[in-house]
Amino acid sequence: MAVTRIQRLPPALANQIAAGEVVERPASVVKELIENAVDAGAQRIGITIEFGGKKLLVVEDDGEGMSRADAELAIERHATSKIRQATDLAAIRTLGFRGEALPSIASVSRFKLRTRLRGDLSGTEIVVEAGAVTTVREVGAPEGTRVEVAELFYNLPARRKFLKADTAESAQVSRLVTQLALGYHEVGFVLRSGERVLIEAPPAGSLEERFYQIYGDRPDLVVVQKQAAGITVRGFVAALAETGPVRGPQHVFVNGRMVRDRTITHAIQQGYSVATIKERSPEVHLFLDLPPDRVDVNVHPTKAEVRFLDQGLVHEVLRRAVIDALGTTAAPELVLSPLAASFVPSTPGLPLGVPWSPGSSDPGKTGNDETRSPGLHGDASAAAWPPAARGPQPAEIVSGRESVGALIRPMVPLGQFRNTFILAVDDEGIAIIDQHVAHERILFEQFSERLTTRTLESQRLLTPVVLELTAGEHQTLLQHREALVQFGFDLEDFGGSAVRIAAVPGVLDLSRSEEVLRAVASDLDGLTPGAGMNEILRQMAATMACHAAVKANDPLTREKMQYLLDELRRTAHSSVCPHGRPVVLRLTRREIEKNFERI
Ligand SMILES: Nc1ncnc2c1ncn2[C@@H]1O[C@H](COP(=O)(O)OP(=O)(O)O)[C@@H](O)[C@H]1O
Ligand SMILES: [Mg+2]
Repeated sequence: MAVTRIQRLPPALANQIAAGEVVERPASVVKELIENAVDAGAQRIGITIEFGGKKLLVVEDDGEGMSRADAELAIERHATSKIRQATDLAAIRTLGFRGEALPSIASVSRFKLRTRLRGDLSGTEIVVEAGAVTTVREVGAPEGTRVEVAELFYNLPARRKFLKADTAESAQVSRLVTQLALGYHEVGFVLRSGERVLIEAPPAGSLEERFYQIYGDRPDLVVVQKQAAGITVRGFVAALAETGPVRGPQHVFVNGRMVRDRTITHAIQQGYSVATIKERSPEVHLFLDLPPDRVDVNVHPTKAEVRFLDQGLVHEVLRRAVIDALGTTAAPELVLSPLAASFVPSTPGLPLGVPWSPGSSDPGKTGNDETRSPGLHGDASAAAWPPAARGPQPAEIVSGRESVGALIRPMVPLGQFRNTFILAVDDEGIAIIDQHVAHERILFEQFSERLTTRTLESQRLLTPVVLELTAGEHQTLLQHREALVQFGFDLEDFGGSAVRIAAVPGVLDLSRSEEVLRAVASDLDGLTPGAGMNEILRQMAATMACHAAVKANDPLTREKMQYLLDELRRTAHSSVCPHGRPVVLRLTRREIEKNFERI
């Protein structure tokens, strides 16, 4: 007699296994049930949880409901009304399609479904205990559907143990409902925890209205709006601010589906990286729409991951959308002063003005000041590289807000304060500029700009220098030799843990190349393993900018100050240094006049 060792699993067990993927905690149950309600065309969805949803969780909707026969099918595995054939998978327009959620949830809880099809006279109630149907009966019920999930994981103690405290689970549900409420603004949401109403958002006419219902006024966010290559991006993202963009949730929807996607996260980060180097997790609420056949949503059971047909394109459109949005950060409250307007360059691609160079200052007046500012050394070479076309220049426009650095129009330097800050004036006020961070920002922008087109200029050393490093530094530097070459370094292994340097970047002072190389090695070590060439170059640009910039306590000549002010004015995003520190503090004419009681 043939003995079989393989057995087909009973459906309840198969469902529990599927539940392992779809149902992790109360919030994931709520997500599936809300998505079903949205797919059913609900206009109002009520969610109630008790004890963080662990004891009880109810989702009610006023959607189309189900007939008795459909309700019975709904709790069977792979039963769905949303797709019928394989080709439907290519362009899914509903949130659900796998037909897994209800049977999975029902297999790990005490589950009750009550539903009434729109137009039917009565409804159906189905009770399931740990995957086994115990009751199916006709009941009176409002149109729509109500799903009750009690004692989640009561039959899987191992899973139940992994649930967090009630407050933590309820916070997760709350975050999730917030996010879904943003995604479906036409739908009204109410979330209750016991007797308390946690979220109440009536149906809204627009995303903006829904956003306001949830978050109120948010001057720290800017609007994103871009359309390109068949992709639409809209939403709100953290504005640049003196202290850096606000951190917060990163809500991303693709075709109305809440997703976590690395391409998108990376594109957002890259968009911000134009303005600030500091690793941050800015708050974003972004909605991407693209033709459904250009995104595959059938990637993961929780449907939180997607695959784009043109990943690079999505990345680029999103990155630019973020950059554009940040560039117009303070737009609504900007005033362009008449004086400033007359100085605004007429074309964005305006060539650099005469940059400061060691030879251009008047030695008679300035003494040896410039030699004490090694960071500026070699900047004369800037003239040799007319920069590529520059992006929008928010710097031309002055923010009406106080002490915010959306500077900068042409300014006249008055002098230095403690050899660390430049004091400058224009018709609109007085500015105090941190000379180090300002110069750091300028150099960083220049590096970034030039690196996109070519390698940086280098200076050959008459006699190569041998540098003893630690084993770690040695290894890191050789590993990134290619990037170092792009910056103008020429170095090779000199045995042991030494390197031999034959050339250094033109902008670097020779005497500091050792210090800079060590700093580069240590900063590169801090990068995540597997960082791409772009990230590596960016990190190096930041490190080099920091080390090549004038320092605090460096006396500056008037020419140098003017050079910094002029360059700063040309630098997009000049209000924040690469490390996210503010560059400019501004006292506006209004403030000054107010303080002297002239208005
Ligand atoms: N709230 C609801 N209102 C109306 N129909 C529903 C609701 N929830 C589920 N259904 C029906 O039950 C089916 C199975 O649901 P589910 O297991 O979540 O799978 P999927 O959403 O992937 O189709 C759905 O296709 C839908 O027809
Ligand atoms: Mg579903």
